[in-house]
This record gives sequence, structure tokens and C-alpha cells, in this order.
Amino acid sequence: MLKDRRILLVIGGGIAAYKSLDLIRRLRERGAHVRCAVTKAGQEFVTPLSIGALCGGRAFTDLFDVQSEFDVGHIRLARDTDIVVVAPATADLVAKMAGGHADDLASTVLLATDKPVLLAPAMNPRMWDNRATQRNVEQLKADGRHFVGPNTGEMAEANEAGIGRMAEPLEIVAAIEGLLASPAAAGPLAGRHVLITSGPTHEPIDPVRYIANRSSGKQGHAIASAAARAGARVTLISGPVHLPDPAGVHVVKVETAREMMQAVEKALPADVGIFAAAVADWGIDAPGAQKMKKGRSGPPQLSLTENPDILATVAARKSARPRLVIGFAAETENVIEHARAKLQRKGCDWIVANDVSPQTGVMGGDRNSVHLVTGAGIESWPQQSKDAVARALVAKIAAALS
Ligand code: C5P
Repeated sequence: MLKDRRILLVIGGGIAAYKSLDLIRRLRERGAHVRCAVTKAGQEFVTPLSIGALCGGRAFTDLFDVQSEFDVGHIRLARDTDIVVVAPATADLVAKMAGGHADDLASTVLLATDKPVLLAPAMNPRMWDNRATQRNVEQLKADGRHFVGPNTGEMAEANEAGIGRMAEPLEIVAAIEGLLASPAAAGPLAGRHVLITSGPTHEPIDPVRYIANRSSGKQGHAIASAAARAGARVTLISGPVHLPDPAGVHVVKVETAREMMQAVEKALPADVGIFAAAVADWGIDAPGAQKMKKGRSGPPQLSLTENPDILATVAARKSARPRLVIGFAAETENVIEHARAKLQRKGCDWIVANDVSPQTGVMGGDRNSVHLVTGAGIESWPQQSKDAVARALVAKIAAALS
């Protein structure tokens, strides 16, 4: 199953690097094409000569090596592969990846790649347990990076044991096979980052009361799920909903429109932004710190303040604007005319418009009938399940990006 698959192996500087030589052999036995980049520290443990001899090419070592830039170039090295495997992934490489550093060939390739990345960490147990490393690992998982190991056992250092041993070569082979076999690796959105907002927002009045709306989040969550199944890295920014987190999706939970705006800014850049949340247009100016009491002076006056328009803000960005910005229009009358006007007003690329009048049962229901309004025209889709709408939308997105 690895026959003719292309694997870029990044070898970091740890004693476990000797196992990476065996990993190269195991991969090539299975018919894979292996290219190797080795860090400066890695070269202290295994030489470019032995790596080159085993992988049947040359080991790439230096970002500013004219010869390797001439041969392939670091961007092609990062992209002309089916998967990037980092073994051993040292604490330093993990930190560099989490921070987005690019000061040598290995870190630059890891920042530039649009392919699945698998890390096989190897380090001293104290370094693995260190909160900085654990924070970095959490960040990388949130970024959609995959991990195999580390395992528990004896360390190279005398009298040290614990979690930190690099996974064995055959375990790494199995993890690579698993990733390449998953539909996500081959999916039409592989390597893309899709950002989705979903659900309602809650705007607090006081610690126990809030303003909300009837959005269930079903359509936004279904799109997140479909995008993940199509291979995208998905960040789902969700208001309060009663739905399970979709599999394979990084979920960020928020309550208010302002929190949602901040989470969206933090999650950018993305290739696609889909704004399916029913965001409250107004929040309470100064929510009470204590529960409001029934007073003698009659009902309280609530002073409202305008919330940011997340969709319009992202669509208007000069930098890091997603290539495709998609808004939703939930209307109760003149659906298409309103959607057309909204496309203009919000500055987005597409609008998914639907009729949410109570008699349609769309709000909170499992079915939806939508019109896709783009610069090119309008498509009216038949009524179908929200999952089917999600799949159709994801297929349209994949076609538009390809
Ligand atoms: O203006 P209206 O609420 O009808 O527009 C709906 C579209 O705008 C949806 O895509 C919704 O997610 C988005 N929106 C937003 N931020 C707001 C209000 C709406 O992102 N404050």
C-alpha cells in the first residue's frame, strides 16, 4: 500500500535518529519513494552519507545549499510528497513547528508543506512532560498535525525511564499507512484549512439571563464534518449548541458575538471561511455583574450595542482574506432578492440562502432547501438533509479551489 507513495522524512537531532535509518529501509522495502531532510543536530547522530545511501538519493541538509535549491527547491521538497514524517521529532523541532519558525531547511519545509504531517516525538521524559512541550503538542494537534508515540520505556540516558522513546520503525510505518489510507489524505480538500462558524450566540444580560436565537448549529456542524471527511483541516467556531463535536474537527467554543469574532481572527489564515452562525446583531451594552432584581420602578431598560459583523469584517480584510468567503442568509421572505443584496453588502463570494419561516421547519430541523447565490448566478437545490447540503457545498468548494 506504500508502493510509489512519496514520503519526505525529516530527521531531527536525537539519539533515536539511528532508528530513522531503519525506517527508511522499511519504507523502501514497501516500494515508497523516500526523500530525507536532516537538521544540523541530526547530522551529529546520522551522517548525510548513510541517509543518502539508504534512501537512494541525497540527503537535503541546508536551506541555502545552491545545489539542493537547484535540484528541487525547498518549496517543492515540501509539496512534492504525499506525507511529511518527522522522526525523531525533538522538543526543539516540536517547539519550532508550534511557533511557526523557519530558520533552517527542516523547519522551513515543515512550515511550507500543504501535506499531512506525522510526528514521532523522541525526547527525555522530563522534556516531554514539560508544560512548554505539552502546550506545543496541543497546538500542533489543533493545527491538524498527527502523532505516533512517544512510547514508555528505558531511555538512552542511564537510569532514566518514562514516556519519551520514539515509536519503533514498524509502528511509524503503520501510522503512515493509516494516514495515507484514510479518505481524508486523498480527499479533495486535503491540505486546505476551512474555517466555519456555527450555532447561535448568547449575549448576556446578567449572570443568569441572555439573548439568544433558535439556531441549532446543525447545518454548520454538518458542513464542518463534510469538510473534514473531504480531507480539510477544519476549525469550527461554535456558539452554544446541543450537538457533539464533529470527528476530526478542531472545535473552539464561544458564547458571544465578540468572542466569536476574536476566535475567527485567531484561526485565520484559512483557505475558505464559511459563516453559518446566527450571530446576534446586538449585544447588551453593560451586562449586569449581579442578577437583576424585580424593582418597583417597572421593567428595566436594556441598552443594546452593535456587535461586529464577522462575515463582513473577514470579507473586507486586506491580508489573510480566505480565497472563498461564504455567508448564509436566513430569510423569511423574498429569499433570493435579499440574498443577492447581502452578497453585495457583505462583500462575500457566495451566499447560501434559505427560507427559515416557521412553516418550513428548517430552523432546528434536519432538512434544508437552499439557493446558492454566487457572482455567476443562482442555483436552487432540491430540499434535502442538512448533511446532503453540506456534502454538496463541500463539493462546490473543492471544485472552485482546484
Ligand atoms: O446580516 P445577516 O445576519 O442576515 O447576515 C447573515 C450572514 O452574516 C451569516 O453568514 C452570518 O453568519 C453572518 N453574520 C456575521 N456576523 C454578524 C451577523 C451576521 O458573521 N454580526
